[in-house]
Amino acid sequence: MPKFIINGGRKLSGEIKINGAKNAALKIIPAAILSKQEITIKNLPDIEDVSRAFDLLSDLGAQIIREGSTVKIIPGNINKTDLSPKLADKFRTSVMFVGPLLARFGEVTFPHPGGCVIGAGSRPIDLFLEGFKAFGATVEEENGKHYRVNGKNLKGTNYFFSTVSVTVTESLMMTACLIPGQTVLQNCAMEPEIEALADYLNEQGAKISGAGTPIIKIEGVKELSAGTFNIIPDRIETGSFALMAAATNSEIKINECNPEHISSLLTIFDKIGVNYEKGKDWLLMKSSPEIKPYNIKTHEYPGFPTDLQSPYVVLMTQAHGTSLIQETIYDRRLIWADMLSQMGANIIMCDPHRAVISGPTKLYGKKLISPDIRAGIALIIAALIAEGRTEIDNIYQLDRGYEKLDERLKKLGADIERVE
Ligand code: EPU
Repeated sequence: MPKFIINGGRKLSGEIKINGAKNAALKIIPAAILSKQEITIKNLPDIEDVSRAFDLLSDLGAQIIREGSTVKIIPGNINKTDLSPKLADKFRTSVMFVGPLLARFGEVTFPHPGGCVIGAGSRPIDLFLEGFKAFGATVEEENGKHYRVNGKNLKGTNYFFSTVSVTVTESLMMTACLIPGQTVLQNCAMEPEIEALADYLNEQGAKISGAGTPIIKIEGVKELSAGTFNIIPDRIETGSFALMAAATNSEIKINECNPEHISSLLTIFDKIGVNYEKGKDWLLMKSSPEIKPYNIKTHEYPGFPTDLQSPYVVLMTQAHGTSLIQETIYDRRLIWADMLSQMGANIIMCDPHRAVISGPTKLYGKKLISPDIRAGIALIIAALIAEGRTEIDNIYQLDRGYEKLDERLKKLGADIERVE
């Protein structure tokens, strides 16, 4: 298993470019199934989860031609409706293939998706299944491990989300594109990736309105045409690098990003003394010698993203005072903070959802195992601040979502090595 070895204590400087958003790419790829014509995707990040999604799409029969960050998909030859358990088990977003296959072919079989360990047990897919049933599909389930969804005569529906969910909003929105009649989805997630997906599908002839608001309306159409999609910048990468700059008191220019998509974080920076300047597509992080504490509660967009909670926790270990962190989206996303305590942070876990952090504390290098992608980036930031050498194992989790992280950080002056 490859590891990262980091020698901390250096300030960073220079410029870093933000890649296309992982969580947009992972929906655009299965969305290709909705059309029979050529799809072009640009600004695609070169990350493990994207490769897994292409493996699955290619196994279904699609032709994929990848050239750097551009890919052409020819989905006309798709001839399979069962997702290979071996491939689908590797990543959570394999479940995003189900809706488009159901809409185009009227049937799908698939395993319970795999993925990282941030939710309760294996992360649930009950809302996806409930949504497909609302269109008139039948769902057969084998011990919660394998599913068969059928529905040849699906109809548009009214569906209210009992829990706000990003992927289920996207899944039902995609599915409804090819289902006759009107679908109204209420209490939808409002993440920028959802609006970007809707704009792209509309360019292919879909009739979606309201994406990016809590109510989305979709008029089903018979087919979608060819399409080109330019993936929006990854707002979580942007926020992670901004927090890295603040925590290491470094001056870094973050290019090709959209600062508007991390307004919740920038508003907090204004309150806690993190200095920055911003333009339409750049963010200049400046030296921030004294950081104040500030409480956060993760929330659906446009609130504070759960995906930035862990790097924010690291910043709070360097703030002068006490802060309370509340994780409201996932059951096991704060548990990683124990590793930060092992590095010397002063953290009291009140319960699995709340942690109190007192700072500033000196951190010390340790041998650690990255439990998931976002805790992984937080450990990297902690290692960059820490005195001495940190070893981070299981960096597959980081490769899932951050392209060539070690190479990009080295260019900023970090002492980081990937060892096999
Ligand atoms: N949920 C259910 N049933 C379902 C689906 C979700 O109960 O069928 C629950 C989840 O357990 C969670 C809540 O709904 O408690 C919200 O989860 P959501 O469905 O919104 O999460 P997601 O769609 O699975 C996406 C991102 C996550 C990000 C969340 C933010 C993708 C591929 N993933 O996940 O990204 O944290 O939205 O809400 O878009 C990451 O990039 O590291 C990551 C985990």
